[in-house]
Amino acid sequence: MGDIERTEFDLGGMSAGGVPPSGAGPNADLSAAQLPDDGDAELSLRPRSLGEFIGQPKVRSQLDLVLGGARSRGVVPDHVLLAGPPGLGKTTMAMIIAQELGTALRMTSGPALERAGDLAAMLSNLMEGDVLFIDEIHRMARPAEEMLYMAMEDFRIDVIVGKGPGATSIPIELPPFTLVGATTRAGMLTGPLRDRFGFTAQMEFYGTADLTRVVTRAARILDVDITADAAAEIASRSRGTPRIANRLLRRVRDYADVRSDGRITVEVARAALVVFDVDELGLDRLDRAVLDSLVRVHGGGPVGVNTLAVAVGEEPSTVEEVCEPYLVRAGMVARTARGRIATPAAWRHLGLEPPTP
Ligand SMILES: Nc1ncnc2c1ncn2[C@@H]1O[C@H](COP(=O)(O)OP(=O)(O)OP(=O)(O)O)[C@@H](O)[C@H]1O
Ligand SMILES: [Mg+2]
Repeated sequence: MGDIERTEFDLGGMSAGGVPPSGAGPNADLSAAQLPDDGDAELSLRPRSLGEFIGQPKVRSQLDLVLGGARSRGVVPDHVLLAGPPGLGKTTMAMIIAQELGTALRMTSGPALERAGDLAAMLSNLMEGDVLFIDEIHRMARPAEEMLYMAMEDFRIDVIVGKGPGATSIPIELPPFTLVGATTRAGMLTGPLRDRFGFTAQMEFYGTADLTRVVTRAARILDVDITADAAAEIASRSRGTPRIANRLLRRVRDYADVRSDGRITVEVARAALVVFDVDELGLDRLDRAVLDSLVRVHGGGPVGVNTLAVAVGEEPSTVEEVCEPYLVRAGMVARTARGRIATPAAWRHLGLEPPTP
């Protein structure tokens, strides 16, 4: 990106909305998929600054440099791609970027940008220095994506007016802006699009210590009385995902309120998690259904993701984006060229002897 003179930024607030929740199937109630009922609770629990953001030390320090460097040179920061499984804080981070820059955040999502005109409308409303957030950017339609190339590189678009031989192309200059894209499938991004991001932040699953801080912080905000070991217990069963940690905390609170005196002890947490079908590793019903199908029905694989998805009654994309990353990271499932295979740990987790090779 060239050095663009920065005039005073518009100090608008954040404008949210228009982002459809990512796919959540009937089995995904406690999974990382975003559910509509999360709205308010998620909003109040979102960290608002880089300093408040728990975990992801690498991404935080990298972003700190990217934003700080641009600030010191008086230019808009390079475009940022946030990649990683659902619920790790990509949307939260996009909001924080705008907040740290003191600029407005405009939000949209890949599936909402069906035609180039949808994107043109979004782009031509940007003010200098704005952050444009495109969630699920890998799901953007091709014509919009091609328009985005030029917008990202040259801060310019060509809008085609009319049809057929009479069509004319009208160039529109855009104010310098920062695009923040989020994707659960970085591998599905086309090369040209990926190349136009100056920085890719790869969000990783969180460790138990960080998730314990997430739970403790959320409990404080929600005014829930929880012991330290109960917070650690919930954290260790949250599949490395803050969204799940927050959701489990709310379900355990329900249990504590109804079946106990409202206080969350480790015994209350364990009992509640049994009721909500979350096992010791944090695997939920869908995760276990996938493992079960892989191990019991397909003898440990290899089996294609589509076959698995049909077996558990889910979209292949849900199995691939929501379940698999954690099963892989937990060492239960391996991806091979011929399909998914179960590791010995998966067999044992289901209480079975792994086959001898
Ligand atoms: N580092 C963090 N510290 C505390 N809470 C966090 C953190 N990251 C995420 N959260 C919590 O988890 C919730 C989900 O985060 P967010 O919506 O940003 O995830 P996402 O990566 O955008 O997910 P998706 O891919 O489904 O859009 C937020 O509401 C927030 O409360
Ligand atoms: Mg999001």
